[in-house]
Amino acid sequence: MEAIEFGQDFIPFLRSRGMPKQPRLFEWCAGPAFIGFSMLGHGLCETLCLADINPAAVNRCKSTVTLNHLEDRVSVYESNNLRSIPTSERWNLVVSNPPHFIDQYEGDIRAHDPDWAIHREFFNTIHPLLTDDAVIVLQENNRGSTVETFREMIDAAGLEIVFTHGDHKKLTRESVFYFIGIAKKGAAVPPWAR
Ligand SMILES: C[S@@+](CC[C@H](N)C(=O)[O-])C[C@H]1O[C@@H](n2cnc3c(N)ncnc32)[C@H](O)[C@@H]1O
Repeated sequence: MEAIEFGQDFIPFLRSRGMPKQPRLFEWCAGPAFIGFSMLGHGLCETLCLADINPAAVNRCKSTVTLNHLEDRVSVYESNNLRSIPTSERWNLVVSNPPHFIDQYEGDIRAHDPDWAIHREFFNTIHPLLTDDAVIVLQENNRGSTVETFREMIDAAGLEIVFTHGDHKKLTRESVFYFIGIAKKGAAVPPWAR
């Protein structure tokens, strides 16, 4: 299943970079949170925060928490982007496989980000929720974007790209998934993300 493969991609990638266990991980646009729960299960984070706009996805996350007795380690929010996230949240690491396309899949909230408005709002509102040395790792699709699609919006939000992995310079005809690593501008970026 495609979504499960997405989740599993993050684990070897972050391990290969030597990322140590993170105190608090946030999965943005989490859906059923395959990525976040896998990372918690593999010991890549101590606690987990999840959010999605879709109540069905949020309910799925809550069931997983209950069934696995994870109430003391996992928080779940129904939230349009970061709008309903408590201001007390502080994340060391953020991961996501967000909607990947502006010009395809109109009406499908899993895939369509009209005008990149969801990405732009995320970049513009995340700064106060990050620790000073936090890293954001997004999995994007070269069929819908290149790194340059996001560079200006990241810069305008006071953030900067610290690494990219697996990306092509031009849009591809087939799906090619790539990672983009982002930190606060001027931050002491942890060695694994440099
Ligand atoms: C590509 S799916 C990824 C789901 C999951 N991470 C995975 O890999 O299976 C994108 C997710 O973004 C969510 N989403 C779309 N727009 C959103 C918004 N404005 N705020 C929060 N989540 C949103 C969708 O509900 C969907 O679960």
